[in-house]
Amino acid sequence: MREITEGFTLDDDPSWYKDAIIYELHVRAFYDSNDDGIGDFGGLTEKLDYLQDLGVTAVWLLPFYPSPLKDDGYDIADYTNVHPSYGSLSDFKTFLREAHRRGIRVITELVLNHTSDQHAWFQRARRARPGSVWRDFYVWSDNPEKYKDARIIFKDFETSNWTWDPVANAYYWHRFYHHQPDLNFENPEVGRSLKSVVNFWLSMGVDGMRLDAIPYLYEREGTNCENLPETHQYLRTLRRQIDQRFRNRMLLAEANQWPEDAVAYFGNGDECQMAFHFPVMPRMFMALRMEDRFPIIDILAQTPHIPENCQWALFLRNHDELTLEMVTDEERDYMYRVYAHDPQMRINLGIRRRLASLLGKDWNRIELMNALLFSLPGTPVIYYGDEIGMGDNIYLGDRNSVRTPMQWSSDRNAGFSKASPHRLYLPTVIDPDSHYEAFNVEAQQNNPHSMLWWMKRLVAMRKRYKAFGRGTLEFLYPDNHRVLAFTRRYQDEVILVIANLSRFVQYASLDLSAFKGSAPIELFGRAEFPPISDSPYVLTLGPHSFYWFALTPVGAIFERSNSQRAPLQLAVSGHWSNVFSGRTRVTVEDSLAAYLQTRRWFGGKARQIKGTEFTEIVPIRWDSAETCITEVQVEYTEEDPERYLMPLSFASGERAEQIRESAPAAILAQLTVRKKDGEETGILYDAILDKDFGRALIDAIDRRRQLRGTAGDFVASFTRAMREIRSVPVTNLEVSTIRAEQSNSSFVYGDEFILKLFRRVDRGVNPDLEIGHFLTDRVPFQHTPPVAGTIEYRTKRGETASVGILQKYIHNEGDAWSQTLAPSRPIP
Ligand code: GLC
Ligand code: CA
Repeated sequence: MREITEGFTLDDDPSWYKDAIIYELHVRAFYDSNDDGIGDFGGLTEKLDYLQDLGVTAVWLLPFYPSPLKDDGYDIADYTNVHPSYGSLSDFKTFLREAHRRGIRVITELVLNHTSDQHAWFQRARRARPGSVWRDFYVWSDNPEKYKDARIIFKDFETSNWTWDPVANAYYWHRFYHHQPDLNFENPEVGRSLKSVVNFWLSMGVDGMRLDAIPYLYEREGTNCENLPETHQYLRTLRRQIDQRFRNRMLLAEANQWPEDAVAYFGNGDECQMAFHFPVMPRMFMALRMEDRFPIIDILAQTPHIPENCQWALFLRNHDELTLEMVTDEERDYMYRVYAHDPQMRINLGIRRRLASLLGKDWNRIELMNALLFSLPGTPVIYYGDEIGMGDNIYLGDRNSVRTPMQWSSDRNAGFSKASPHRLYLPTVIDPDSHYEAFNVEAQQNNPHSMLWWMKRLVAMRKRYKAFGRGTLEFLYPDNHRVLAFTRRYQDEVILVIANLSRFVQYASLDLSAFKGSAPIELFGRAEFPPISDSPYVLTLGPHSFYWFALTPVGAIFERSNSQRAPLQLAVSGHWSNVFSGRTRVTVEDSLAAYLQTRRWFGGKARQIKGTEFTEIVPIRWDSAETCITEVQVEYTEEDPERYLMPLSFASGERAEQIRESAPAAILAQLTVRKKDGEETGILYDAILDKDFGRALIDAIDRRRQLRGTAGDFVASFTRAMREIRSVPVTNLEVSTIRAEQSNSSFVYGDEFILKLFRRVDRGVNPDLEIGHFLTDRVPFQHTPPVAGTIEYRTKRGETASVGILQKYIHNEGDAWSQTLAPSRPIP
């Protein structure tokens, strides 16, 4: 079981970060599992289902190491441990494993530049002999005159980058708070010590590291002490060492720099795989407020090309102030004027407000900004709470305004903690116009029109098209400068994005002649627009609205009939169940729509499918065979969504040949599994044909197994009747399958039992089952085939769905179904 669950989690793809959707959070702010007012790893692990439901594929954790917490943990006192408030190393490992099990990667913080003054290295250094290796772990000076050209970053709090240490009898260098002495990278011992820190976390399975404050590693007189060649040299060595030892890991540079300096952190593809694009962020806010596309186009035009294996990280907000370092003085004045009229909102060179507050809780603007975040080139980073439009508290000091507890419900402490409100690490947001009672996960989960649901749809849509993460960018220049329009292209995908930056209705006249003949399909509603010709394509846009169109028939698989369906070719590494992760998963989901159309039991044939999605995947095995029981949600353009049960297996060799001959229609894809010792080619198919699967199911019923899923559990049970009827071990019975069923699929076991699987999974008790139980338990009616067992799906939200029912098989009078359910049969 274990190996499969671990198998289908993560894409074996070294450039996974290009398709990622990153969620930034602080463990202390997320969920408190032991009621001490501080979020912890136990709590975060409990909330992983939420993140999976949101659809994010990576979590970036702010520093969680032992620390005096004078800079929220960026003042590290011990690099290889967990702050006791947040749990233990073993709690972290559990979290990591559970995240991976859900296909979520984990990115942690690597603060190379400085430590806390409480770190043992600093305590040793200040007492060590001047000039010794230990002393030189940090940067010392007899006078505070060196490196005068380096700016002060926390200018509201510090007046110099030097602080006097009476113990050492010398000044030490620090780019941030005075309690954060900078490490001395001239000392090779420092570099070595930090490399072993990296090894420690990566060996544990951490997938990526954000390199905090990376431009400041080295100092040199006469420079501003940023981006020095030595810093890049160190990064190259670090990267080389990581690549030698580990696979699929990622380094993300935090370099708050102009584009040409920031790209240097990609090197020639041999430094960091990712870097934040700091300057584009304030320009998105400017463009919105100025109702003019210029700031965005201008900064992206100034952004150099990046190496093929590299990717920008984009964000709207994060745990720091909205930084205005990478703008001109006039631009900064403008930003302060329009987004931080109250001086209390300002800090250092930035603005300490959350997204929803900055945008005046105008949901159109919030949606528009997120749509840009998700479609401009780069990987989007969502800051926790922004997906529900969480508010802030600008009176909390430093950057704590945007670091308050996550709002889960309208309960005490926003459902974040059961501690006394006084005990919380920071108070919850209770300002009337952003009170947690109104803005919380629970309230929004219950309202399909909420911002949270909108975000979920946005996340899901982005995952369907590789062009968003990997495509090229070409701007279109309609005359109307209030409209931003661009295309993203990758292989045969072309996405057209059009955004109205204005608060009024606008038109755009676009030259789309390059795409003549294709008809734009709006991605969210799948409405087809008139075909493109040589003449200008004119569109009207509502205030702050945006459109995402597909210009190629990428999604057209839904419309194509099965006969035209080219056999899908898939390849995964490691284990076949990797078809359920990453990009392959999306491809399989898309092709399911076409497959379902060919099934007799599929009820949605006459409807237009908008999309299909796996909502549950649970492996079950029998001997050497294994099947994944999946639940597929089918969304229609008009009607309510439906869920279907879809067991999938992999077969190769002779077995695959047999299926190809006897039931070609049950094959979903040709599948190649790449393994260390070569390739295995086979097929992915509907496991209802699989006798081993049938055997695994009756065995599960017999042994009352509970199969753990992510959204719920499959619970198999048997009734009293089963014990009475069972004469031989059930798994000795010959298994056969029935093909010609109408709305369901069945297995027959010898001449003893029939197991009927309900293909459509409806929440609530299945009426068939209810009648069966009634007849079996309440009336020992001899003509009724007794119910011998059931399989149910129980969601974590407390809903139940019948998945299967096992009954005594009665030959003479047809199968159990016709017998129990024949309308003419009187129910006593
Ligand atoms: C980075 C972090 C910030 C921290 C600083 C010093 O800029 O984002 O929160 O205060 O580094 O470590
Ligand atoms: Ca706690």
